[in-house]
Amino acid sequence: MATSRASALALLLCALSASCHVAISGPPSYAPPKDDFLSCLTRSVPPRLLFAKSSPAYGATWSSTIRNLKFLSDKTVKPLYIITPTDASHIQAAVICGRRYGMRLRVRSGGHDYEGLSYRSDKPEPFTVVDLSKMRQVRVDGKQATAWVDSGAQLGEIYYAVAKATPKLGFPAGVCATIGVGGHFSGGGFGMMLRKYGTAADNVIDAKVVDANGKLLDRKAMGEDYFWAIRGGGGSSFGIVVSWQVKLVPVPPTVTVFQIHRGVNDGAADLIVKWQQVAPSLPEDLMIRIMAMGQDAMFEALFLGTCNDLVPLMNARFPELGMNPTHCNEMSWIQSVPYIPLGKSGTVRDLLNRTSNIKAFGKYKSDYVRDPIPKAVWETIFTWLVKPGAGVMIMDPYGGRISSIAEDATPFPHRQGMLFNIQYVSYWFGEGSAALPTQWSRDMYAFMEPYVTKNPRQAYVNYRDLDLGVNKVVGDVSTYESGRVWGEKYYKGNFERLARIKARVDPQDYFRNEQSIPPLLK
Ligand SMILES: Cc1cc2nc3c(=O)[nH]c(=O)nc-3n(C[C@H](O)[C@H](O)[C@H](O)COP(=O)(O)OP(=O)(O)OC[C@H]3O[C@@H](n4cnc5c(N)ncnc54)[C@H](O)[C@@H]3O)c2cc1C
Ligand SMILES: *[C@@H]1O[C@H](CO)[C@@H](O)[C@H](O)[C@H]1NC(C)=O
Repeated sequence: MATSRASALALLLCALSASCHVAISGPPSYAPPKDDFLSCLTRSVPPRLLFAKSSPAYGATWSSTIRNLKFLSDKTVKPLYIITPTDASHIQAAVICGRRYGMRLRVRSGGHDYEGLSYRSDKPEPFTVVDLSKMRQVRVDGKQATAWVDSGAQLGEIYYAVAKATPKLGFPAGVCATIGVGGHFSGGGFGMMLRKYGTAADNVIDAKVVDANGKLLDRKAMGEDYFWAIRGGGGSSFGIVVSWQVKLVPVPPTVTVFQIHRGVNDGAADLIVKWQQVAPSLPEDLMIRIMAMGQDAMFEALFLGTCNDLVPLMNARFPELGMNPTHCNEMSWIQSVPYIPLGKSGTVRDLLNRTSNIKAFGKYKSDYVRDPIPKAVWETIFTWLVKPGAGVMIMDPYGGRISSIAEDATPFPHRQGMLFNIQYVSYWFGEGSAALPTQWSRDMYAFMEPYVTKNPRQAYVNYRDLDLGVNKVVGDVSTYESGRVWGEKYYKGNFERLARIKARVDPQDYFRNEQSIPPLLK
C-alpha cells in the first residue's frame, strides 16, 4: 500500500500538468488592443508565431504548459497576445516594440511557476507572453564537458542529451523532467545531486540575455554583476535569458537508488530526528531526502556509487534505517532520473515527453531549517499531516557542495549551516475544493514558525509564494521597500545588491511582476 501511494504521490508531484486544452470563453479585455505594438512586431516576427485572443489557437497555446490547474480558470487575467519565438531576434523585437508601445512582457519557459507569474497577472493589466517552448536546443560538448541549453528546453531534454553524448557526464538540477530551464536556472534549481554539485545555477558559466533595451548580451557584454544576478536572482527581473552555457559534471557508471518507508507507529519520528543530524553531513555522494505524507515517512536516496559501497556506509552512519542490499536498485545515472519520480514505470524516453495526464491544483510554501527540530515536534507534525486538507512535506538535506559556496557568491543565499529545505505541497482536484488545502497550508506554515529560520524566515524563490508579499508600484516603478518584505526571505542580504543591479540594467522597471526585483535607484 505504501508503495502504490508513493507512486501516486510521485505522479502528483512530478506530473501535474495539463494535457487538456481548455476553451477560453469570452476572456475579459482590460485595455484596447495595442495595434501599434502588433504592427511593430509583425515587421520582425512571422505572423504564425503570434496569437491574439481572437486566434483559434490562443487558448491551446496559453494553456499548453500551465502546471497548476488553479490558474486554468475563466477568472485568470490572461495575456492580450502570445509570441512563440523561434529565434533570439524575435525576442529582441518583442522587447523593442513592447518598450516603444507600452506593452509589458511576461516570459514563460516551462510554465511551472507555482503562482503562474509567467503567463498570468494578479491584477487586471494588459501584457504579452513570450513563450519560449519552441526554443529548446541542447548542444553538448562532451570533450569540454559543457553544454549550451536554450531556456525553453525542459530538464529532461538536457539530461537526455547529455547522457546520449556521454554516459560519463550528468547535470545537477531538479527532479521533475518537465520543469523549464528558463525559470529553474533563474531561481537556483536543485535536485538529487545538490550535495555533490550544488544548484543548477552554480554550474552556469555563460548566458545569452535580451536586456531591457532589446540588446542580446553574453557574459562578457553584460558584465559580472549582471551575470551574477541572473544565476539565482529569480526569473523575469533582469531580461529574457535565451540560453545558458553550463558545466557538466562527472557521474559514475552505476548509481544506487532506494526508497524506504517508515510509519509513525514504527519509529518515523525518531528516524527523522537522526536524519536531521546525519543527512547534511554524509559524504556528498549520498543524498537522502524525506517525503512525509499521512502517517508515513519515505526516505528516498540517490547514491553515486554501487550497492556494495552504499550498504556499509549506511550501516556505519544511519543503521537505524535498517537499509540492506534488498533495498538497492542499481542503474545508470540517466536511468535514475525518471526512476526517482516515476518508479519502475519511468523510462529514459519519458524525459523527452512534454505532456502528462495528471491534473492537480496546488499551493506551495517553503522553509529552511538550521537547528534540529525536537522529536515531540515531529510527532505533532505527523498529527498535522492527517488533518483535513493536509498536504505533503518534502525535505531536502543540504550540506556538501550546496552549503560550501559563499552566501554572496550567487543570489541564492541558503548555504552554510543549513540542515534542510522544507517544501509544503497542498493539492486538490477540482475548482471548488481549494478551501481546506489552502487553509492547511497557511496553518501548517504558522505552526512551523518557531522551528525554522527567522529574521528573515528564509524561503526558496523557485517555490514561489505570493503570501510572502507582493510589490507596490509607485510612479510606475516597484518600490524597494515593498520588495524587501518578500525579497529578503528569498535572497537575504543579496536582495539589496540585486536591486542595485536592477536599477542599472532596467531603471524604468520594464521587466516586472508581483515579485520581480525592484530597482534601488539611490
Ligand atoms: C511539478 C514541479 C516539480 C518541481 N520540482 C522542483 C525541483 O525538484 N527542484 C527545484 O529546484 N524546483 C522544483 N520546482 C520549481 C521550479 O524549479 C520552478 O517553478 C521554476 O521556476 C520553473 O521554471 P519554468 O521555466 O518551468 O517556469 P516558468 O513558469 O516558465 O517561469 C518561472 C519564472 O521565471 C521566469 N522566466 C521563465 N523563463 C525565463 C527566461 N528565459 N528568462 C527570464 N525569466 C524567465 C518567468 O517569467 C517566471 O517568473 C518544481 C515545480 C513543479 C511544478
Ligand atoms: C507522454 O505522457 C502522457 C501522459 O503521461 C502519455 O499519455 C503519453 O502516451 C506519453 N507520450 C509518449 C510518446 O510516451
